[in-house]
Amino acid sequence: MAFFAFAFLLAALGAVLLLVRRLPLCSCHVCRAYLTGSWAKEFTNLGDWYAHLLRESPTGTVHIHVLGCTVTANPANVEYMLKTNFDNFPKGKKFAELLGDLLGGGIFNVDGDAWRHQRKMASLELGSVNVRSYAFKIIAEEITTRLMPVLAEAADKGSVLDLQDVFRRFAFDTICKISFGLDPGCLERDMPVSKLADAFDTASRLCAMRGAAASPLVWKMKRLLNIGSERELNKAIKVVDEMAAEMIRERRKSGVANSHDLLSRFMAAAGDDAVDDKYLRDIVVSFMLAGRDTVSSALTTLFMLLSKNPEVASAMRAESPGNEASITFEQLKGLHYTHAVLFENMRLFPPVQFDSKFCAADDVLPDGTNVSGGARVMYHPYAMGRMPSIWGADHHAFRPDRWLTGPNGSFVPANLYRYPVFQAGLRVCLGKELAITEMKAVGVAVVREFDVQVVGNTGCGACAPKFVSGLTASISGGLPVKIRKVIRNQI
Ligand code: HEM
Repeated sequence: MAFFAFAFLLAALGAVLLLVRRLPLCSCHVCRAYLTGSWAKEFTNLGDWYAHLLRESPTGTVHIHVLGCTVTANPANVEYMLKTNFDNFPKGKKFAELLGDLLGGGIFNVDGDAWRHQRKMASLELGSVNVRSYAFKIIAEEITTRLMPVLAEAADKGSVLDLQDVFRRFAFDTICKISFGLDPGCLERDMPVSKLADAFDTASRLCAMRGAAASPLVWKMKRLLNIGSERELNKAIKVVDEMAAEMIRERRKSGVANSHDLLSRFMAAAGDDAVDDKYLRDIVVSFMLAGRDTVSSALTTLFMLLSKNPEVASAMRAESPGNEASITFEQLKGLHYTHAVLFENMRLFPPVQFDSKFCAADDVLPDGTNVSGGARVMYHPYAMGRMPSIWGADHHAFRPDRWLTGPNGSFVPANLYRYPVFQAGLRVCLGKELAITEMKAVGVAVVREFDVQVVGNTGCGACAPKFVSGLTASISGGLPVKIRKVIRNQI
């Protein structure tokens, strides 16, 4: 025991020394504020501080020297990285290392041919009419049979509900059914604990923590010794692996020919026997990550904003079609105001607040910023939604009308590089249409029946929720709400 403790201390000391040697020494005011955490005296979230720095910068780009990271909110730079010189800005090996244990070789975590191959397969499947109508059916079913009863019960009892938790359960059930045809039942009335959802949460949180560390040496050392957070991560990944293996076995047993879930489509397209379980496991996990926390994050901030802006909820009610119990896919498409509300919500609160790339070879960004090969470049949708240079002086205001500038007040999308909420260019999100359909369906169904009031501080006053650091944005402490049934003739 003493030997191990001594060995560990030596290793830790070595790591600290290496860390000190590798960290660029910089005492500029930005690096000082970062290292001492003094930015937190003035700003709620790191993203708010970055937004402030980027607004002050004449180019919309800043450099955090101690992190070796360039941060940009300049649309010309974003277009250059995501499209014009795409090949020079891969995700890179460092990113792949952070998430590799969880995501393996799944689409999120690979570059080059491995990515191109999965992207082609996934875009064919996600674009197919069969998969789309299957997904819509699943979403509508989860809303009617689970989400609405849970909200109705909270309204009847007058109880306080954590809406963030409800939406996470909703989105997890939905993405699992769409992706693998299996129902984890997280949003059943008794809100059961799901081993898979829990393990998945732990794993993505701990992987994100690796990324936030000043040097990878510390987590690598802990992984080597299987201690602390790395031991916890290892355990969580084992649970995810077991569950994924079970799903794949189940699919093989029940046959894939007539199933419309994504896993079956992948298996059928590749010829079931030709694909190994590891490849399928990585696909399963990537889709869980893609489709769960993103959608629930956007729905949570949507209802936070609607609670503060009841006139917007009323306008959504007024737009939604008459008396029908559930809305069709075609009807949803025609809801321009609701569409604008969703996009305005994600402008202020993008579910993926920032995204990093690694610069392969020395480059110069369109705003003149030099980036050396091997450096990290981050574009920041959260900050971009708060730039007067992009959105005008009222950038801080929640104003869905800013999107309704087409003929007869129809929705007009923003340039994707000014609004890279779903990323843009060659790696633009493949689930964008599905996510929009899902969020619209939930948004409309809930506002038609209920009035949602945030209780406590979140979403009130200055409307600056505190986010937990992670791969996708979630509000610290959740979103406690009270629900009231809307009386029909009030609509
Ligand atoms: C509001 C909801 C969503 C948002 C804001 C969103 C945003 C994003 C972003 C920012 C990326 C780029 C991530 C990166 O490369 O690091 C991405 C990629 C991706 N998204 Fe989404 N997403 C959403 C929902 C979904 C859903 C529901 C699915 C699947 C059913 C999905 C599937 C994917 C896939 C497969 C990629 C990888 C694309 C590639 O690397 O080529 N997304 N998404």
